[in-house]
Amino acid sequence: SRIPVVTLDGPGGVGKGTLGRMLAHDLGWHLLDSGAIYRALALAADRSGIAKDDEAGLVRLALELPLRFRGDGNQTLVLLHDEPVDEAIRTPQISALTSQIAVIPALRTALLQRQRDFARAPGLVADGRDMGTVVFPEAVLKVFLTASAEERGKRRLNQLMEQGISANLASVVAEIAERDARDQQRSVAPLRPAADARVLDTSAQTVVETYTVLQAWVKTAL
Ligand code: C5P
Repeated sequence: SRIPVVTLDGPGGVGKGTLGRMLAHDLGWHLLDSGAIYRALALAADRSGIAKDDEAGLVRLALELPLRFRGDGNQTLVLLHDEPVDEAIRTPQISALTSQIAVIPALRTALLQRQRDFARAPGLVADGRDMGTVVFPEAVLKVFLTASAEERGKRRLNQLMEQGISANLASVVAEIAERDARDQQRSVAPLRPAADARVLDTSAQTVVETYTVLQAWVKTAL
């Protein structure tokens, strides 16, 4: 397709979601939070008692999942069967289940077209793990964000606290590290920068500083 796509990939808690929302908002583009699709699938599986190793059941669920996103840019609502599930999909339990089912190749294939359908005019900002490597290989700009596990744990903890979810730093860091390991080590679409991605270490940067770099890259790429 000729629709311009900017991909933001990286590990959990690195700030992809925040930066993606800011960028989509400023450009007036659509936004794909691909992690929310994997998370909603995990939640739906959990609720309907589909086991994490039931590949056929999970693929069927992935193809039928009545999932909608409302709003673009700043405000997004994830709706599953018309129910807002933004909080339910971000609990530690669902986060862990998500990365466990995300290793299943057939499930990833089943979600491919659904993700590509987000590329509509005037453009798309897509965040996840394999946006630049698998889902949108033709992206005009591929960004891979990194930060230390400690720093990402702090960011994720703040995010959880803002949502009124209580947690402690050590458990959040441990949860993120476990998820990273699974995401990096899986055989299909592992977490890694695309060959043509620009890598940005955000450990010592504020969101505003990172966003300034990102905006300059976007300007050059478009
Ligand atoms: O980005 P987020 O933390 O919401 O993603 C949750 C989980 O979904 C990740 O840990 C990963 O296992 C999976 N995921 C994926 N591919 C993507 C986005 C998310 O495998 N493109």
